[in-house]
Amino acid sequence: MLIKEKLPPLFNFDALPEPTYTGNGLTDQDVISVSQFDTERLDYIFSRAGEMRELVERVGSTDLLRGRVLACLFYEPSTRTSASFISAMERLGGGVIPITQGVQFSSVSKGETLADTIRTLEQFSDVIVLRHPTVGSAQVAADYAAIPVINAGDGPGEHPTQALLDLFTIKEELGRINGLKIAMVGDLRYGRTVHSLTRLLTQYDVSLRFVSPEILRLPLTIMNQVIDAGIDVRETHDVADVIKNADVLYVTRVQKERFTDLAQYEEVKNHYEITPELMAIAKQDMVVMHPLPRVGEIHYAVDDDPRAAYFRQVRNGMYIRMALLAAVLGKA
Ligand code: NCD
Repeated sequence: MLIKEKLPPLFNFDALPEPTYTGNGLTDQDVISVSQFDTERLDYIFSRAGEMRELVERVGSTDLLRGRVLACLFYEPSTRTSASFISAMERLGGGVIPITQGVQFSSVSKGETLADTIRTLEQFSDVIVLRHPTVGSAQVAADYAAIPVINAGDGPGEHPTQALLDLFTIKEELGRINGLKIAMVGDLRYGRTVHSLTRLLTQYDVSLRFVSPEILRLPLTIMNQVIDAGIDVRETHDVADVIKNADVLYVTRVQKERFTDLAQYEEVKNHYEITPELMAIAKQDMVVMHPLPRVGEIHYAVDDDPRAAYFRQVRNGMYIRMALLAAVLGKA
């Protein structure tokens, strides 16, 4: 129309500078496995997480993701992972659809398939965080969804965002990753956090010690990845064998829900307990970590020890998830 033609353009889009932010290749991507993270991408997420920490400490929140919505879909119990994703999204100014208090209240209890639930939630949201008991379920969801899916634990498979926060915690606590002796203790067979963290660590120059009862040894496929990476590695049944030299003691719960034979669980459930007596023979700057929840693996008397990092680790989870949500949703 004539009048319109005479009007100057409201906004000259061509005059805008080219966006330089790339999200380090994470924008619009699913986060399914730690294999997506090379050291460059890890450094990027860690430095963004450091900025998120500063932001939270200074002002508490921002509006970076205002108007964006996260759907949090948990088919397995969770406290830390779900709460930290929700807090992360809200501190970035976004909104949350929380289906975390038991999918029994959602249409899943009516027999809806994962595919249909995912295709429904993506109508309302910009990113989906999924926890599910089946290995590979996050990839299945990602195949159905056009929006990014973040794996918050697929059965005994992977838990990539936990591994990111674990590695970030090691770096924050000890100032480095290369050169460290890291001991993992407990349920190495079913513990998905151990699987993901171990895979991430194969990219670094570390020594690994795996401490478990015989039936809970690290799966062979992951052990082979460790060996192929040329890492100095040893397995043992006894924490006392490794605690003197360890820089990091990563303790885990025996994953009761993965056992088909509960009698077997009963046999191994109380196998390890980190006590003040054990801590007395550890290095003065060793760091004790645990993805939590703990069910007896670390004595409460250890909590006051400055080397007990597990609650600082929890907080780091929020910063890492803030960094990840911002990256996946294309915001610097
Ligand atoms: C872990 C998990 O769910 O795999 N918890 C968590 O996410 N922090 C560890 C566990 O449940 O033992």
